[in-house]
Amino acid sequence: MFRYLRQYDMADMRDMLRNQRTAHRRTTASLEGKTVVISGSTSGVGLAAAREVARFGGRLVLLARNEAKGRAVCAELERDSGAEVSLHLADFARLADVRRVADELLDAVPRIDVLINSAGVHSTRRRETDEGHELVFCVNHLAPFLLTLRLLPKLRDGGAARIIQVNSQGHRFGGLDLADLDWRRRWYLGLLAYGASKTAQLLSVWELAERLAGSGVTVNAMHPGEVRTGIGLNNGPLYRWYQRRVLDRFLGDARVSGESLHTLAAAPELGGVSGRYFNRTHPEKPAPHALDRAVGARLWEMSMDLTGSSDDV
Ligand SMILES: NC(=O)c1ccc[n+]([C@@H]2O[C@H](COP(=O)([O-])OP(=O)(O)OC[C@H]3O[C@@H](n4cnc5c(N)ncnc54)[C@H](OP(=O)(O)O)[C@@H]3O)[C@@H](O)[C@H]2O)c1
Repeated sequence: MFRYLRQYDMADMRDMLRNQRTAHRRTTASLEGKTVVISGSTSGVGLAAAREVARFGGRLVLLARNEAKGRAVCAELERDSGAEVSLHLADFARLADVRRVADELLDAVPRIDVLINSAGVHSTRRRETDEGHELVFCVNHLAPFLLTLRLLPKLRDGGAARIIQVNSQGHRFGGLDLADLDWRRRWYLGLLAYGASKTAQLLSVWELAERLAGSGVTVNAMHPGEVRTGIGLNNGPLYRWYQRRVLDRFLGDARVSGESLHTLAAAPELGGVSGRYFNRTHPEKPAPHALDRAVGARLWEMSMDLTGSSDDV
């Protein structure tokens, strides 16, 4: 524990604790006329973000894996906010599906002003996708990585766009091993696998921000707060009991996450800010292991290969 904490500067620890206690920043900035794509929009953080975007006049393009849940969210947003909403289906555990939905969006949407990648999962045991990836690494890192790169032409079209990767303080658990991204050689620990996926996503944010510099497209990562959502409910009955009966008592309302995402997506003063990690809306220094650019550069190449992406960003 002490060895783990020793990697942090005292000043950074103080900042983290202060951020934790400080309310998130709000904005009244409108999203009227803006097209906002949100993954993981059927529950928790993504759903809360969709509600805020709709409230502030944005046109929504929702990505969901479950059609019935997706349609219910569309109906709610149309009814409550009169928002223009469209739904596209994709399972982030299948990269082929992510490629297909990206192509669908490239055809269907004239331009994208904001992309919020919120779909995410935490698993207490190793699961493998049909394509042979460890599930958490695939859903939390590879799928949003692939989707983001594929959608870049539409993000670039308007001359100014924002990409927000919903990350987590869980990246601080570490766990990323470039020699074993899919957890074939190590004892699987859910928190470490979650930490690895979020570390990978952060390292990719710095890489992408550098490649997008001067393009008008920004990319940032955010921790949405510790909020009551459906995350983890895919696990066994014991974990679900612990989550609902114990953990949930200490967690906040996901509305905080939705409001924070609206701020990051719309606040005019954040328009040119890129390559940052936010604790809700507070800029924060991530864990040292998530700032290792040599690891990030190698991971970028590996993620490119694994997703079949081309480096013409
Ligand atoms: N809750 C927190 O305190 C917290 C803290 C830090 C970070 N986060 C991050 O916040 C993000 C959202 O999580 P949440 O807490 O809102 O959890 P959640 O309520 O379970 O929402 C997760 C969303 O991701 C979707 N999803 C899961 N697996 C998918 C797949 N294979 N393909 C497509 N979509 C999939 C879910 O769809 P279904 O509705 O079909 O299940 C749901 O819409 C995640 O990236 C998570 O790591 C959350």
